[in-house]
Amino acid sequence: MTRMFSPEGPSLRELAVQALSSVERGYDLLAPKFDHTPFRTPDSVLEAVTSALDRNGPYDDGLDLCCGTGAGVDVLAEVCRRSVTGVDFSAGMLDIAVARRRERGGEAGAPRVDWVRADARALPFAPAFDLVVSFGAFGHFLPAELPGLFAQVHSVLRPGGIFAFPLVAPPRPVSVEYWMLLGFDAVMRVRNAVWRPPFVMYYRAFRLGEVRGELARAGFRVELQVLPEFGRRRDGSPRVRMVVARRPD
Ligand SMILES: C[S@@+](CC[C@H](N)C(=O)[O-])C[C@H]1O[C@@H](n2cnc3c(N)ncnc32)[C@H](O)[C@@H]1O
Repeated sequence: MTRMFSPEGPSLRELAVQALSSVERGYDLLAPKFDHTPFRTPDSVLEAVTSALDRNGPYDDGLDLCCGTGAGVDVLAEVCRRSVTGVDFSAGMLDIAVARRRERGGEAGAPRVDWVRADARALPFAPAFDLVVSFGAFGHFLPAELPGLFAQVHSVLRPGGIFAFPLVAPPRPVSVEYWMLLGFDAVMRVRNAVWRPPFVMYYRAFRLGEVRGELARAGFRVELQVLPEFGRRRDGSPRVRMVVARRPD
């Protein structure tokens, strides 16, 4: 059977079955092979964000929103002193995250790690975190859901806490990547018009201008930090930035 992405990756058939499920069920199915797909956030991004967070810290308690198999939990474990929580609504992804973390074993002095199954749009936490991160998951939220999502993040941060995530500059209309993403989003729109349950995953919906406005409306003070590791585009603009949204004191 032809494997996609790598010899351990999912087959084309498995990907198709996943894409015809709901987001939650789709990730349950993909979970055992997720770390062998390009959907897991690459180490280069995780490392750059770790360095940038280090410059902004220290932090005590961190939350990885839509943690999947725990890519962001690894980042938080480097920069948080007391506790790290991963939250995701896919039980399958959380199972892999727990097993992966257990295999690696906890280092002495490392923060406590907890996993919680919950929907990011209804977080079951008090304002108990001073850092919330999220990687690779915003395409799963419709633009109309962002105000509610950001309000949830705001509500679980302590005053002065930050919500931080990397944001890649959108490809230019002259690039192949631009047309590939446009094509992917168009296929998903057709799929969601004719098939239930929907699988919300739109690459082009999460844009800096709108995101910045929604974060401000949710009560955050927003700052952009360049991730220098990824260089700049021909027009001088950074390829990847970290959005830092602070809940004011
Ligand atoms: C592309 S994966 C990213 C996983 C991980 N953050 C990473 O970078 O490797 C997206 C994750 O978001 C989760 N997710 C999507 N919508 C969610 C929601 N409304 N609530 C909680 N988790 C959600 C999925 O279950 C999946 O694990």
